[in-house]
Amino acid sequence: MLHSSPAMLSATAFSLACLLAAPALSARAEPVPAVIENAAAARDVPDSLLQNSSAPLARILGPAQDYANNCQGCHGAKGVSVAEFPALANRIGYFPRIPEGRDYLIQVPNVALSQLSSARLAELMNWMLQMYSAAQLPRSFEPYTAAEVDRLRISRIDPVAERERIIVLLIERDHLDAPETLALSPFRNY
Ligand code: HEC
Repeated sequence: MLHSSPAMLSATAFSLACLLAAPALSARAEPVPAVIENAAAARDVPDSLLQNSSAPLARILGPAQDYANNCQGCHGAKGVSVAEFPALANRIGYFPRIPEGRDYLIQVPNVALSQLSSARLAELMNWMLQMYSAAQLPRSFEPYTAAEVDRLRISRIDPVAERERIIVLLIERDHLDAPETLALSPFRNY
């Protein structure tokens, strides 16, 4: 027959006390407020409005998502941003008019050093050119391939000097309607 020793009894009593104390402890913790401060302001942002309206939201996938995650912070959702970042809209399509310009777009530091794989980067660049600068893109434009991006992204260029060189070449080869179309400095013309 089992006899409960005083030690065992006190251990059981201790466990019981803990169990009973647990709800009391959590009840004493600060309650989570149902409505956080500034909730009204947060509800005013478009995302929340859409969520509240239960309107169906299309998921962004592929290159559009890669652009949003990796480039949009600087270059803007519409390919135009503040003066510190060159506009992509209505501009980048000029570069692939010559082979040197085509290479330059991949060798730009934020492109070459991107965390994206060369396959995704190729897809992103092809999407970006169509999305933001289709009118400037030469009709003969062949989409970038992963192998090409792989080869080009190894180079380290001085982006400002290389850009100037490309613009001079574009003008020499009659590919720019007017020299000022692509400002010599990427930080002008905004
Ligand atoms: C941290 C800010 C930043 C991010 C993020 C960024 N860029 Fe840029 N981008 C710049 C700046 C600044 C330049 C000008 C050249 C330089 O200083 O590197 C530039 C130049 C460029 C150019 C050349 C434009 C021209 O007119 O010469 C292209 C194309 C470009 N970026 C594409 C991208 C793509 C694609 C991504 C995302 C994978 C990206 N950038 C992410 C800041 C950024």
